Amino acid sequence: EVEETYIMVKPDGVQRGLVGEIISRFEKKGFKLTGLKLFQCPKDLAEEHYKDHKGKPFFPKLIGYITSGPVVCMAWEGIGVVASARKLIGATNPLNAEPGTLRGDLAVQTGRNIVHGSDSPENGKREIGKI
Ligand code: CMP
Repeated sequence: EVEETYIMVKPDGVQRGLVGEIISRFEKKGFKLTGLKLFQCPKDLAEEHYKDHKGKPFFPKLIGYITSGPVVCMAWEGIGVVASARKLIGATNPLNAEPGTLRGDLAVQTGRNIVHGSDSPENGKREIGKI
């Protein structure tokens, strides 16, 4: 089924110059880029985006990280793109992410894991709608 997902290159991914490589992996897989925006995320939107993590010990650090510089927000379309993008991105903790995934190849810390992908088509729609 054709779906849409929200992919965001986090501030460390932008600072490290990984935007092109991240876009390239999704393009080569065969997905279609339908929206893109360089965006400085305000604190209130970051808190809304990560509301499921509110109250967790790492929440303040997470908000500080995600608002620390510009992010690249993207909408990607394709068959099964939501789950497939999560596979291409790899596990949340980059040390557990398989080689060949973005986090497995390009990151080492959970708090600096370079890229976000929606976990469901519903959240994809919700997250795309915010930007
Ligand atoms: P992501 O999977 O995109 O969305 C939730 C984010 O919370 C996750 O990426 C990490 O950046 C962050 N996160 C989850 N667990 C921890 C943790 N233990 N320490 C720091 N950040 C975390």
